Amino acid sequence: ATPGRLDIVIFGGTGDLAWRKLLPALYMAHMHGRLPQSTRIIGIGREDWDRDAYLQFIQARSPGLIAPAAWSPTHWQRFLDCLDYVALDLAQAEGCGGLSQALSTDALRVFYLATAPALFAQICARLHADGLIDPQARVVVEKPLGTDLASAQAINAEIARHFREDQIYRIDHYLGKETVQNLMVLRFGNAIFEPLWRAPFIRSVQITVAESVGVGSRAGFYDHTGALRDMVQNHLLQLLCIVAMEPPISMDPDDVRDEKLKVLRSLRKMSPSDVKRDTVRGQYTAGVSEGAAVPGYLQEADVPAQSRTETFVALRAHIDNARWAQVPFFLRTGKRMQKRQSEIIIEFSEQPFSPFGQSPGQQANRLIITLQPEESIELAMMVKEPGSGMNLHPVRLSLDLQETSRQRRAEAYERLLLDVVKGRLTHFMRRDELEAAWRWIDPILAGWRELDEVPRGYPAGSWGPAASSALMAREEHGAWFEA
Ligand code: BG6
Repeated sequence: ATPGRLDIVIFGGTGDLAWRKLLPALYMAHMHGRLPQSTRIIGIGREDWDRDAYLQFIQARSPGLIAPAAWSPTHWQRFLDCLDYVALDLAQAEGCGGLSQALSTDALRVFYLATAPALFAQICARLHADGLIDPQARVVVEKPLGTDLASAQAINAEIARHFREDQIYRIDHYLGKETVQNLMVLRFGNAIFEPLWRAPFIRSVQITVAESVGVGSRAGFYDHTGALRDMVQNHLLQLLCIVAMEPPISMDPDDVRDEKLKVLRSLRKMSPSDVKRDTVRGQYTAGVSEGAAVPGYLQEADVPAQSRTETFVALRAHIDNARWAQVPFFLRTGKRMQKRQSEIIIEFSEQPFSPFGQSPGQQANRLIITLQPEESIELAMMVKEPGSGMNLHPVRLSLDLQETSRQRRAEAYERLLLDVVKGRLTHFMRRDELEAAWRWIDPILAGWRELDEVPRGYPAGSWGPAASSALMAREEHGAWFEA
């Protein structure tokens, strides 16, 4: 149930995530009446500002990020009325300073930690010391939770000193995307797919999350992170889990998360020679992105000249369980790729026998689930080419998800923030799930360290390094499919 009063406290209130994503998402929820009347949003930042200065800061940034169709100056003004600011320099002050006074005594408290994870432990300890964590309070923690298994375990342990597991919302905004949630309905709400959703009827799965943007102004963070930690450890593995999990017995948080955990635990750990053979690291060089000349990663602001950080990863993964034995999962993500395109392509096996002989157009069926930029589900299948003879020809049964429903489609952050308010944990990661993901990632990081190779260059605006196509070319008829 939606509580009567709500205080949302955003640590990192002046940071990118807050003004780019969280405040626009909260504005949308507020405008559509999805938040309690008495909601207050308290930004916390290091800057020694008063409330007016904070409002000005937000005013100069967030409105431009709200979809024009949803923009209403009147609503924006009402939304700003909910906002407050508390200055807190964690390096200086003791406790939580003015936050105690700013909080209501009878409101549901949501603490959103949108700071560097290095600060999480300190923030939790201070909230605790000031007695601000009541049994209903919730804490939302942003990725990246750690840089490897050990650091993730340490962060989890610190947070767990002050919050119970059912108070902790580890956010992965991909789990809030409409199409990602829809994938569960596609799989578990339609009887026709489930019998075929396994080896040997599925031959391979390809998951691509391609971005056309570069590192932008985030090099300070990104250069220590790289694409494997920034995207694969969380977003791509979560997509893989939803594709590969067994049907959960209900949508209850633990029923869903138990099944995802099993998938993560079944991922085959890579040895250094597997890493050499089955992974590709790339880094973009200067090129043309969406019609404009753009610099290479090494020329971007704040990137060290010798940086070996990868901006692209492609890899071949295996899930060692009864459903997926022998079915390769190909994952690929990168910045400055040809276009923004996120998709999951399920490649079904070929017909065991064709009465039509060798028809040139014949190909195996594919199910193409596009997450971005448009949301769609397509089934590539064979039809007869009109005319004489029995020639086969691929066509697509296509479902445009925007067209199927006129209802407003909320952005991922809005949906997930409302889940936090409603106490729904299903689309958040549990502690063991996060750690299992790192358990699989760590050997890849170790393999790369051992190989000590410079990432392979790929021109901005391309589909990644040649080695990524070569990884696929090893497979029988292998290639990355075009959505
Ligand atoms: C974030 C990464 O988690 O996801 C960014 O830190 C990336 O580097 C972003 O750009 C992509 O999200 P989306 O929703 O735009 O696909």
